[in-house]
Formats: sequence, C-alpha cells, structure tokens
Amino acid sequence: MNITIFGTGYVGLVTGACLADVGHHVLCMDVDQAKIEKLKNGQIPIFEPGLESIVRSTVEAGRLSFTTDTKEAVKHGVLQFIAVGTPPDEDGSADMQYVTAVAKSIGQYMDEYKVIVDKSTVPVGTGDRVKAAIRAQLDSRGLDLEFDVVSNPEFLKEGAAIDDFMKPDRIIIGTDSDKASELLREVYYPFNRSHDRMIFMDIRSAELTKYAANSMLATKISFMNEIANLSERLGADIEAVRRGMGSDPRIGYHFIYPGCGYGGSCFPKDVQALARTARDHDYDARLLNAVEAVNYAQKHVLFDKISHHFGGNLNGKVIALWGLAFKPNTDDMREASSRTLMEDLWKAGAVVQAFDPEAMNEAQRIYSERKELTLCGTKEQALKGADALAICTEWKEFRSPDFELIASALKEPVIFDGRNLYEPDMLKRYGLAYYAIGRGKNQFNVA
Ligand SMILES: NC(=O)c1ccc[n+]([C@@H]2O[C@H](COP(=O)([O-])OP(=O)(O)OC[C@H]3O[C@@H](n4cnc5c(N)ncnc54)[C@H](O)[C@@H]3O)[C@@H](O)[C@H]2O)c1
Repeated sequence: MNITIFGTGYVGLVTGACLADVGHHVLCMDVDQAKIEKLKNGQIPIFEPGLESIVRSTVEAGRLSFTTDTKEAVKHGVLQFIAVGTPPDEDGSADMQYVTAVAKSIGQYMDEYKVIVDKSTVPVGTGDRVKAAIRAQLDSRGLDLEFDVVSNPEFLKEGAAIDDFMKPDRIIIGTDSDKASELLREVYYPFNRSHDRMIFMDIRSAELTKYAANSMLATKISFMNEIANLSERLGADIEAVRRGMGSDPRIGYHFIYPGCGYGGSCFPKDVQALARTARDHDYDARLLNAVEAVNYAQKHVLFDKISHHFGGNLNGKVIALWGLAFKPNTDDMREASSRTLMEDLWKAGAVVQAFDPEAMNEAQRIYSERKELTLCGTKEQALKGADALAICTEWKEFRSPDFELIASALKEPVIFDGRNLYEPDMLKRYGLAYYAIGRGKNQFNVA
C-alpha cells in the first residue's frame, strides 16, 4: 500500500521504516530540510536501536523515501499518517499548530479519497478539528472529495521502539468509517499474525486512551516516588517495599521503580495536557495535578541531597554526572531529570562533568559551549578531579562500574544515585558514601 508519513521524528521515522519493512511503499515528509537531507544521505538523525539497519534496507529496496515536498507527499499515499510533534503550550495544553498545518496541506493538495491517520498524541476532539480543517480547504477549492479521519495513537517506547512497533501490545483504531477500518486492517495485517491486536472504537475514545495510558504510567511512578520519600523519613527501604508490593499480581512489578523523576517527550506533557483538557471542561483533575506536582519536586531531590551533604555550599564544587538522556537506550533529553539537576547545580555555583553513552551530541546542542558543563568522552573521564558522582540514567554500563576506581578518582568518595542502581552494603565495602532514593537506613554517609 502507498503510505505517507508527516513528521520524521521518533514516531514518524520508526512508523515509516517498520511499515516499509513489511512491504508497504512509504514516503516520509518533514519540514525540517536538514533532517531530510541527512536521511537522504543515509544518516539517522536520532539514536534508536535497530532503526538504522531497517531504514537502510528499506531505502535500498526502494520502499522508503524522504521528501520536503508537501504536494508530492499528499499525492503519494491513500493513507496519510500524521506523526508531527504536539509539544506543550505555555498553559500546559498541547500545541496543535503542527497537526493543523498538516491537515491544511492535505486539504490543499488532495485530489482523491484519503484516510488521514493521526498518530500524534492529541487532545480529545482533534479528529473533528482535523476533519473541519481539511473540509475548509476543500470548500475553498470548490471540491467535495470523500475522506476519513482516524485516530491511531502510538504506544512505542523510545529505546525499544522497533520491537514495540513490530510486536505491539495493541493497535488502537478510532474511526466511524468501515472503509477506513478495512484499509487499516490491511496496513496492520503483518503485525497481527499471532493474534488480533486491533481494538476498534470511536475517535474520541481512542484519543483519550493514549492520554489515559500515559497518565496511568506517570501516576505509578509518582506514587512510588511519594512512598520512597516517605520511606526515607520512616527508616524503611523502598527497594524492599517495591519487591513486597510488586509480588501482588494486582499491582505487578512493572513501572514501580522509584527515582529522580520521570522525563521524556511524553509523560510530562501528556499529564499536563490531560489536566488542562479537564480544566477546559470544568473538571479539576486533582490526581493528575498531584502526579505532576510530585514529579516536579522529585526532579530536585538529588540536588537537595547533594547540597545537604556539602553543608549547603556547592560553590566551586565539581560534580561528575553519569546519564543525560531521560532514560537508557535513547539520546532524547527532553524534560530529562539530568537537566533539572545540572541547572540546580549551576545556580548553586557548581560545575558538571558529564558522560552519557548516546546523548552527548544532544547535550552539546542544548547547552552548546556552556562553561559550567564539560562533556567527557568516557564515564571514567567524568570522575577526574570531581568532588562527587551523581547518576541520573540507568544505562547498563553504569550498573557494575569499577567502584575502587570511583572511590579513588573522586575527591570525596560519595555517590548520589537517582536510579537506585547499587547494593548499599557493597558500596560500604569500597568506602563509598551512598545516597539513593528512598533507601532509609540503607542510605549512609561513611565520611
Ligand atoms: N517519542 C515518543 O516516544 C512518542 C511515543 C508515542 C507517541 N508520541 C507522540 O507522537 C508525536 C510525535 O512525537 P515525536 O517524539 O516523534 O516528535 P519529534 O519532535 O521527534 O518529531 C516531530 C517531527 O515533525 C516534524 N514536523 C513538524 N511540522 C511538520 C509538518 N507540517 N509537516 C511535516 N513534518 C513536520 C518536525 O520537523 C519533527 O521532525 C507527538 O504527539 C508525541 O506525543 C511520541
């Protein structure tokens, strides 16, 4: 099938590559000329495991191509996927300007039946607004063409995006059209072979499903962080509490890890946007507001621990930082906890020596030549001459480091662990002071 994808970010590029991999003919369109140039030259603008080889093979096979030409893009696909960004506006609502721009372009250039499939995370009611924007363009051209709008929210996780797309837990399709349903069944048929993963519903329910799922996951994290903060004050160990809780099948072990807050391009903005939607409909979403407030505070917890350890004076201190990405296996630093920590440290007069296995270019892009930040080539280099080590991302390569080297390289042997990576007793043996999240008596200062 001929498919067009608008937006070649994390969602658009993965969607395009995976659909091309199973045999569809995909044209990816983006307004970012530099991005499209890179893709045309065989470079992948983001880090996502497994993506590069699929893009390469599907391009070579002639099933995946890239363009900045809107007219060509609209002409290509009977299915027009929208996968552009929906960043937060100043008031927390989703900024819909990119989605609206795509809808207008489709209305401007379409000359036959199209199915517009919205993959971006969009507020409930967007399907109707996309329909209206396309209809207005068609009216201005004096055309009465048939088209359908479908909501098909994306649930992939950065870092495991290819696997998630190829073996989805579910494929949500919100539509009121049988014709569109049939076309989408055909598109997704290769991903449904072991069992049918497609769940059909109305458009508004599909749009809300995405926000509800992300908000639920964010709620689990904020809940655990609240209990972790309580554990610290009560002398309990959150890691023991977590295992005890997770063993209840009604709770489960997934997504109950305490830490220095959630980040990324989805949870923060989606929780805020849903709370905003609620307010717009005269409903005060108290739980969502609390989830957001707990997370905001949690992102400052590591800084508070560091500041407290050094007696409130961080002026001139050098902090080694392991982990800049908002989570492992991605280079994405949007809303990352590392950014809050670095910015808190800089305000307090400290400087940062940071290392991340994948997000160094992204950090360079965001902070450019900031003199309070040194980007180091290895995690060991980041330790050199540092007063302490802080950890913000649970990359695999941070899990079993050389503790002797850490203890000898740091001016003061102390680790502030925002992801609870280590066994406190083990660190004691290396003479390392250890502060983690919610570890009660297992959090200690050996100095
Ligand atoms: N990143 C994730 O893990 C994830 C997961 C599920 C859903 N989502 C949702 O998917 C959407 C896209 O997210 P993302 O992370 O891929 O965003 P992104 O910022 O990585 O990519 C968006 C792309 O859209 C392009 N764009 C903007 N306007 C355009 C236009 N008019 N025509 C064509 N391209 C245009 C931008 O240049 C950019 O390359 C968002 O709504 C997001 O909430 C993201």
